[in-house]
Amino acid sequence: MKTSTRFFSWIMVCFIAVSIVCLSLAGYEARAAEFKTIEPGVLTVGTSTGFPPFEYIGDDGNPDGFDVAFIKEVGKRLGLKVKVQDMEFNALVASVGNKTDVAIAGMTVTDERKQAVDFSDPYYDAVQYVLVRKGSNMRSINDLHGATLAAQLGTTGNLLADDIVKANSQTVLKTYDRFPEAVNDLKAGRVDAIILDKTPAQTFERIYSGEIEAVSGDEFGFEVEKYAVAMPKGSNQLSSAINKAIADLKNDGTYDRIINEYINADGGERSNTIVDQFVSAFITSNRWSMYLNGLLLTMQIAFFAALVGIVIGTLLALMRITKNHKGKNTILSLISGIYIDIIRGTPLVLQLLIMWFIIMKNSKDGVLVAVVAFGLNSAAYVAEIIRAGILAVDSGQMEAGRSMGFTRAQTMRYIVLPQALKNSLPPLCNEFISLLKETAIVGYVALSDLTRVANQISSATYQPFVPLIGAAVIYFVVIKILTLLLGVLERRLRRSDIR
Ligand code: ARG
Repeated sequence: MKTSTRFFSWIMVCFIAVSIVCLSLAGYEARAAEFKTIEPGVLTVGTSTGFPPFEYIGDDGNPDGFDVAFIKEVGKRLGLKVKVQDMEFNALVASVGNKTDVAIAGMTVTDERKQAVDFSDPYYDAVQYVLVRKGSNMRSINDLHGATLAAQLGTTGNLLADDIVKANSQTVLKTYDRFPEAVNDLKAGRVDAIILDKTPAQTFERIYSGEIEAVSGDEFGFEVEKYAVAMPKGSNQLSSAINKAIADLKNDGTYDRIINEYINADGGERSNTIVDQFVSAFITSNRWSMYLNGLLLTMQIAFFAALVGIVIGTLLALMRITKNHKGKNTILSLISGIYIDIIRGTPLVLQLLIMWFIIMKNSKDGVLVAVVAFGLNSAAYVAEIIRAGILAVDSGQMEAGRSMGFTRAQTMRYIVLPQALKNSLPPLCNEFISLLKETAIVGYVALSDLTRVANQISSATYQPFVPLIGAAVIYFVVIKILTLLLGVLERRLRRSDIR
């Protein structure tokens, strides 16, 4: 009895140690002296691509556009290297000050945002426009009543659309994470009008000329907006340095140069035949390497999360199983039961977001956050798999071990667990395969896994077909290979069963 208590205290100790390591990694944060940037000497900038010509995925697979060029010039003047992180627009404001130093994303200065962040001096004037299908005659707010509207989640266009919906209950609003998806739905007739900023609206109109058109916001009575750089609240030093840099850029002609390069030039490529689409989705600027990197990231996260899952999951299973041995609930079985309930009772995406924005909010390493979130999630499922595996081992095994003089813990460790793990192997491999696919949501924490890459490339080429089908094929092939290997493994194990 004493050794078994000791055995379980070890389990608790390991559990606590793992948690401490995770939490301290999360809390680790380096800070530079002067501007207190998140990474010393580097200005980490949040943006949200899919908003040409201000920000889009460039030919080399990295964010490009007016805002990107602009903030790089600003960074140069602050003596900081600029690192751009692409994320959902709706996540930008919350990320300023923890995941990123500043955000630049054609972001309008609004009173509501000012509660959460400070803004630099404005650098661009904008107004909301309405994008409609060619030939549509929507020219006033009244025409929008009863229509299906689209906006990007969390934008000022979203607010205007909300007002229209409030005024007319027949009107429907669909919100999108990125504009190219909304434009796609507009062309497909799934929505009737998109409310978005003037210059991007005109850019989309040019890209899909003949299919959609941009209607001026004046006709709808929309007001002028100003774009500015968002910074953490109270960052006075940084903000005066940025304002000075902006003023310098305007005075020395740099501002006009990038305006001409990005805003007055027409961006956006679009290919038509399927061969062209294939070339631009895979070959142009070595895009194939983006899929490869995405796949590697996907595998890396799945692999390490699976490790975390197995270790913690086994501990949870052993904790849970104390109930069977005592015949009633124990503290350990209760803790483990509650943990499993909570994890299984909440969506994985939410767990990931909670990890990213709340629990590990000071960690800017998305991979680490993803591994912890997916690992902790997987642990709950692994625990149930292993528990079933343990229960499936004949109880005679435990009795036999005990009567040979082994303690309960020793019998568990040397006799029961090895058999249980073998029983659990096939479902564990299945768990790994689901993990591989579930990681497709890491785009939420600004990582470019295979799914995100496919999405990025489809918004860079404005042609979703090849990148999305291509990514599906890549997942399928990888998972098929894994399943085949799993089959081989299972047959091997069965061969050693002398029955
Ligand atoms: N100007 C609008 C706003 O601040 C839309 C900005 C959208 N930007 C983007 N990068 N998607 O709400």
